[in-house]
Amino acid sequence: MSKEIDESLQGTATLLASSDNEDTKKLYLESYGCAMNFSDSEVVASILKKEGYTTTRDFEEADVVFVNTCSIRDKAEQTVRQRLHIFKKQKRQKPGLVIGVLGCMAERLKDSLLEEEKLVDLVVGPDAYRDLPNLLENVQGGQRAVNVLLSREETYADISPIRLSENGVTAFISITRGCDNMCSFCVVPFTRGRERSRNPLSIVAEARELVENGYKEVTLLGQNVDSYRWNINKKGEIENPAIPTTSFAELLEMVAKVSPELRVRFSTSHPKDMTDEVLHMMAKYKNICNYIHLPIQSGSNEMLKKMNRNHTVEWYLNRIQRIFEIIPDCGISTDIITGFCDETEENHQDTIKLFEQVKFNLAYMYFYSERPKTLAERKFEDNVPIDVKKRRLNEVVTIHRNNALEQNKKQVGKVFEVLIEGEPKKNKEQFSGRTSENFYVVFPKEGLSKGEYINVKITDCSSATLIGEIVS
Ligand code: SAH
Ligand code: SF4
Ligand code: F3S
Repeated sequence: MSKEIDESLQGTATLLASSDNEDTKKLYLESYGCAMNFSDSEVVASILKKEGYTTTRDFEEADVVFVNTCSIRDKAEQTVRQRLHIFKKQKRQKPGLVIGVLGCMAERLKDSLLEEEKLVDLVVGPDAYRDLPNLLENVQGGQRAVNVLLSREETYADISPIRLSENGVTAFISITRGCDNMCSFCVVPFTRGRERSRNPLSIVAEARELVENGYKEVTLLGQNVDSYRWNINKKGEIENPAIPTTSFAELLEMVAKVSPELRVRFSTSHPKDMTDEVLHMMAKYKNICNYIHLPIQSGSNEMLKKMNRNHTVEWYLNRIQRIFEIIPDCGISTDIITGFCDETEENHQDTIKLFEQVKFNLAYMYFYSERPKTLAERKFEDNVPIDVKKRRLNEVVTIHRNNALEQNKKQVGKVFEVLIEGEPKKNKEQFSGRTSENFYVVFPKEGLSKGEYINVKITDCSSATLIGEIVS
């Protein structure tokens, strides 16, 4: 299985920093799925720290194990169930252990999860984390506890997240929660609820705090960042005349102004909503990175319509053209689903054609996985055989790899400013970091430190990595 597919299916497991305090309750937390889930785990860690919980990297010494889960594809849920199996074995040896399922699977399966997964004590949806201390108390009193209420307001704006990423250089800031788009294949609107934006002042305050703590890059997160709006309703009317309104482009500017040393990234942009105003703002501030993740999902208009994406391929190509007109060196990436309901060979060839036209630097590629409750599950038949879905996926992966390699080769000889993020997993003798365009670069350490900006000349590449040497 290819690296891209493999990684997308596994999600990221994250561990909290360790503590040696013997007296307090110990929490072990693992996260799967998207960056938003990872960011939520930082909120959960903060809420429980206030309750006196310390954290551990070793689940065998934990009093409480939380798994923050993802439902986006069936495989994501299977991965979580396998992990739960291991934690439940531990509980058999240590009956006082509390096991909690948080996040999207909790929201999707609700109390049925308690029936399906015996020995799970706690099921908590993404908008109910403030209730965790209370729910934990119930569990310690011998009950099992569920809170999967979704909220129209909750943004956890006032909670200062405990940073779980190990590098101390890059961090996530959630700017919106939920999604109102209802793409027909997607479970997110059901697991995360209605879209809402977070107070811009709390976002800027969080960015400032990160800078004070030595962070050098923030990624503003939302399922559709372009629909961020503060004090403006969906019809474009001002809600409270006494306070300023904020669009996503304006928010970008506010965060960019926090410090010229702080890089600003964002994800995810939606092709139907991405405005030129945002592109101009990116061009105006050097510290807003020249990189846009713009998922298209399919190169076929027929499929896009069925997917309820509300844009066409032509619209998408126009957006790409505007990106390059306003930000000539912009890095671009996308998401693709192969084998969606009724996808013909011709529809699939349209996706291949799109990849011939647009050379993405990065692509996250999946085969379609039917999700309960979604529009597609209710209205369409999941009728592309699994081997066909996988063959089409492999074809897209192959063309993308060739494109990415071609794009990377064009960077050889160029000099980029790179923010040093840490050591590559496979070679502790080197440092790795990214360029503004989101190219991943590895280079010799040469007495440098994490969090420094340095100029790197690219000398070689593969389809996923640029290799460089330091020039200043
Ligand atoms: N908000 C983002 C996507 C979030 S989900 C957007 O609108 O683009 C991340 C990616 O998972 C999606 O872009 C899509 O490519 C993939 N995905 C979502 N549901 C899926 C499903 N049912 N089967 C396969 N892939 C899916
Ligand atoms: Fe899902 Fe579509 Fe919302 Fe993205 S925009 S989270 S794909 S419903
Ligand atoms: Fe997964 Fe939920 Fe994110 S379904 S992709 S963790 S919003």
